[in-house]
Amino acid sequence: MATVVSVSRARKEPTTGFRRLPKLTAPVLRLNGLAPYYTMFPITFPFTALANAEQGDWVLDPFCGRGTTILAARLRGLASVGIDSNPVAGAIASSKLAQIRPREVIRLAKEILDDPKPGPVRDLPHGDFWDLCYAPRTLRDVCRIRNYLIENCSTRIEIALRGVMLGILHGPQNAKTPTYLSNQMPRTYSTKPVSAVRYWRKNKLKPPEIGVLDAISRRAKFSFQEVPDSTPGKVVLGDSRTFNFAQLGAKFSWVITSPPYYGMRTYFPDHWLRNWFVGGPSDVEYRTADQLSHHGEDQFITDLATVWKQSAGVCFSGARLVCRFGALGSCEKNPRDMVRRSLTEAGCGWKIKTIRDAGTSKQGHRQCEQFGTSKNVPLDEIDVYAVLEL
Ligand SMILES: C[S@@+](CC[C@H](N)C(=O)[O-])C[C@H]1O[C@@H](n2cnc3c(N)ncnc32)[C@H](O)[C@@H]1O
Repeated sequence: MATVVSVSRARKEPTTGFRRLPKLTAPVLRLNGLAPYYTMFPITFPFTALANAEQGDWVLDPFCGRGTTILAARLRGLASVGIDSNPVAGAIASSKLAQIRPREVIRLAKEILDDPKPGPVRDLPHGDFWDLCYAPRTLRDVCRIRNYLIENCSTRIEIALRGVMLGILHGPQNAKTPTYLSNQMPRTYSTKPVSAVRYWRKNKLKPPEIGVLDAISRRAKFSFQEVPDSTPGKVVLGDSRTFNFAQLGAKFSWVITSPPYYGMRTYFPDHWLRNWFVGGPSDVEYRTADQLSHHGEDQFITDLATVWKQSAGVCFSGARLVCRFGALGSCEKNPRDMVRRSLTEAGCGWKIKTIRDAGTSKQGHRQCEQFGTSKNVPLDEIDVYAVLEL
């Protein structure tokens, strides 16, 4: 993980990164799809928002999720910092900063798996779910890599290997060359153990024998074949309401973010298997304490206001806030009112310039559609543009 370096605003020059977003199929954008995550926004959103950024600008995302803003900043040649309280998000996002060659990741995985004295596999999970999800050898190798990465995950190669593992941990089985290590499962979210076991038994599905090193090798070669030039930055695992932003050591010109959509509480349980891989329990974790509160609208708005205030404290006057926000249709809340109220309550100088309708999750190709968050009632999404007037 790169460290934050000193920040200068003296030179006002265009950025040296991409002026236009490469085609979405271009190899340099494959890193974006390394591993899926709930309610990620499309890379076009932060990339377009940064069209007028200047060389030396720093970008902050206090709810960074899987790091789409960070990758967009890197493509633009800009430094960035992301904060998220979910370890799965933090792990995926930090791999967006990694400057590595696929062979380095493959070599590290081989070293871990070939270790002649690996010691006992700690915390080897047991039970019907694990017996049916992974073939025994596959599970043993996954656990070896997990054990290693829980102890050591500070170098860019280790961080990239963790990102690769999160990307291939579970997903659908394809007939030819397997991409994912698990028995049949969606790639976007982890099925709960009871439902998964019921489905596998009903359909008589056996866990596939998959070479973990081969799967890592394929994914590393695909996702890291070409990466954008390295830019300074880091990802912090923390609660944006309470983390001391002064510790970031940088001053920002841009805050580009998407807070959890109101009513969306399932970031932990929906990624429970990935959460296990990064050190969590071997069962579904229903953790909410370090997530923005969903115990009523007022508390949510106060929480959001706290994060806007914290962000303003490390921004230059004139900094831009670009925020995509929504509320689950079932909550019957107006996202415009919620954002307005939160910025007013923050009382720290963010002035709204524009609020645009970003449509609903039923229009066009939306990430939240893939995650099934919008089953019957569409999500209302808005884009908010504000400027810090100190
Ligand atoms: C809408 S998602 C962000 C998705 C992101 N834009 C992307 O493209 O991947 C909101 C994120 O806010 C995080 N979050 C919720 N409460 C938080 C808090 N108090 N501090 C930091 N992150 C928080 C969630 O874990 C989730 O990853």
